Amino acid sequence: AERFREQENSQDGAIYSALSVFFSSLLISSASVCMAECPPLGMESHKIDPDQLSASSMSQYIFAPQRARLNMQGSDDEDDMRGGAWCANSEDRIHWFEIDARRETEFTGVITQGRDSSNENDFVTSYFLAFSNDTREWTTIHDGYADWLFFGNNDKDTPVMNQLAESVVARYIRIIPQSWNGSLCMRLEVLGCPILDPADVQYRQNEVTPVDYLEFKHHSYSEMVALMKSVNEECPNITSIYSLGRSSKGKEIMAMVISGNPTEHEIGEPEFRFTAGLHGNEAVGREMLLLLMQYLCKEYKDRNPRAQQLVEGIRIHLVPSLNPDGHEEAFDVGSELSSWTTGHFTDNGFDIFKNFPDLNSILWDAEDKGLVPKLTPNHHVPIPENAEIAVETRAIISWMNTYPFVLGANFQGGETIVAYPYDSLRLNKPPEDEPRVIPDESLFRWLAVSYASTHLTMTHNYHGSCHGGTAAGMHGIVNRAKWKPITGSMNDFSYLHTNCFELSIFLGCDKFPHQSELAREWEKNREAMLIFMEQVHRGIRGIVKDQQGNPIANATISVEGIHHDVTTAPTGDYWRLLNPGEYRVTARAEGFSPVTKLCVVGYQSGATACSFNLAKSNWDRIKQVRRCHPDLILPFNTWHSST
Ligand SMILES: *[C@@H]1O[C@H](CO)[C@@H](O)[C@H](O)[C@H]1NC(C)=O
Ligand SMILES: *[C@@H]1O[C@H](CO)[C@@H](O)[C@H](O)[C@H]1NC(C)=O
Ligand SMILES: *[C@@H]1O[C@H](CO)[C@@H](O)[C@H](O)[C@H]1NC(C)=O
Ligand SMILES: *[C@@H]1O[C@H](CO)[C@@H](O)[C@H](O)[C@H]1NC(C)=O
Repeated sequence: AERFREQENSQDGAIYSALSVFFSSLLISSASVCMAECPPLGMESHKIDPDQLSASSMSQYIFAPQRARLNMQGSDDEDDMRGGAWCANSEDRIHWFEIDARRETEFTGVITQGRDSSNENDFVTSYFLAFSNDTREWTTIHDGYADWLFFGNNDKDTPVMNQLAESVVARYIRIIPQSWNGSLCMRLEVLGCPILDPADVQYRQNEVTPVDYLEFKHHSYSEMVALMKSVNEECPNITSIYSLGRSSKGKEIMAMVISGNPTEHEIGEPEFRFTAGLHGNEAVGREMLLLLMQYLCKEYKDRNPRAQQLVEGIRIHLVPSLNPDGHEEAFDVGSELSSWTTGHFTDNGFDIFKNFPDLNSILWDAEDKGLVPKLTPNHHVPIPENAEIAVETRAIISWMNTYPFVLGANFQGGETIVAYPYDSLRLNKPPEDEPRVIPDESLFRWLAVSYASTHLTMTHNYHGSCHGGTAAGMHGIVNRAKWKPITGSMNDFSYLHTNCFELSIFLGCDKFPHQSELAREWEKNREAMLIFMEQVHRGIRGIVKDQQGNPIANATISVEGIHHDVTTAPTGDYWRLLNPGEYRVTARAEGFSPVTKLCVVGYQSGATACSFNLAKSNWDRIKQVRRCHPDLILPFNTWHSST
């Protein structure tokens, strides 16, 4: 056996030395052209249009070539069947998949992936690559003796990258599958650099000129912390860094607060939050928030009036990475290979976004029993005892309860849409049969539209959406319950347990885009982020005080016709987001007589001031009088008439 192994080894050795000669020749040639790795052409991001894609055949329409985008998600839903890959017709003998880059391109590599499917195990295990400038003459990559066989996938989900030893310049690329498991199905991405024609001025005008002080790159955890510290050093008067708590692997969940007076709540100033990275592999939001920190600091110092207004009028909390362990996992695999789920969950396996206690069921059950609002409040639903919660979620909940947040959004990825709550689905009783609608729906729709319509591309529609779902609609906004309902979401929890209105912003099809995309992403999102923050000033705000001028904490503010109240902060101030209109608003507090006022919200910017002074309720006064003068008998009318 020993000898046999030796023999085997020496044979391997011979093959290896032959190969290494070959490889080193490739290495030399590639070194001589000094090949840089090119970014994805945009199968996953949808930069590549459907009409740039073609194939030898397709098994059915739902497996058409445009389903071949990397990380495309399929659906077995009867009403909305969508293939999780391009699949070829099995009766054909020759198979290829072709991309027209539309311009001369330096191709440097290919990433392949099998079919997204819950039952099937379809993936391509080997393929040839061919290139052309005109689709008539094709040049295959070969080693001088035979076509070069690239090894593909070993399972249906994990992307596998093949980098070319030497880049190829062409307009068209073909992937020519040679072997596969199950049916011939695949998803892919192609790496390439467009070759710019210097005369092509049009194209260059569309390029983004990056602003020099901004850092467009993906940041590791330590780089993120270092960047936050440097912004803090740059703008010590308006920034402060704190931690929400630790992740399961012990990383601090870092936040930066930006405001005129960052370390304390100023009476009347609303608190706002942007969070990102609940799913660690959805990396765009994290970078947008790091860019926003740099931007606000710099623009504030440069006395940009808009930035000054934002910073001085709002206490802005930015949390770029709610799931730092997940991000690290995805970051280590890299932007191109992190796939759909690597780093999506926390280290303990939780999907934080839907790991919040389910308060919807509690409120809806109470509503069905007719208890709301007389016996059960329509807000601040208490957390049930038995909730199983990740350490990260626990930290987020305690943070949500610490600051009087008014408005917030969490950045996600894998779609290009703004999704507003309710996120959880319960159908009303027939004949209505419609999902339950959040009481503040018209406001949430406005908030969603304010982001989506300001974002440079969110209202463009990719034949429905990134994955072909039909619910996306035309305006880049969707009600989550009607789209992909989930229970225990951060948005529903925030609305039902705190005063903060929160929604989800999905920044793009590619969850973890190449870093060369970040400058463009910033351009797409910058104005939308600013506009969204400014929405915190929509509606009414004020202070609830007693007759001696002391603030009343935890007073309830009810708006007639909207069955969701908010409460005052410990400092007596409140904010009630509302669309323009006239509202009858009532302030109530334990021991005081309620007061109702008409408050008008106009179209101009800035919240309408609507403060309340509450008098001790007569019942309370009577109790007090009784305590002091137990023998006194008050005639009924004395107190009733003054109510
Ligand atoms: C395509 O044309 C370019 C020159 O315009 C040439 O360098 C390249 O080799 C051609 N590619 C193929 C595959 O023929
Ligand atoms: C290959 O496909 C078959 C079914 O076609 C499946 O049973 C098998 O698990 C697949 N192999 C792998 C490695 O997934
Ligand atoms: C911070 O505030 C101090 C005084 O309030 C001021 O002198 C200083 O210029 C400010 N620094 C920055 C960086 O804004
Ligand atoms: C706020 O008031 C409600 C009653 O309106 C009460 O149940 C709740 O305990 C109070 N919360 C605090 C923090 O005082």
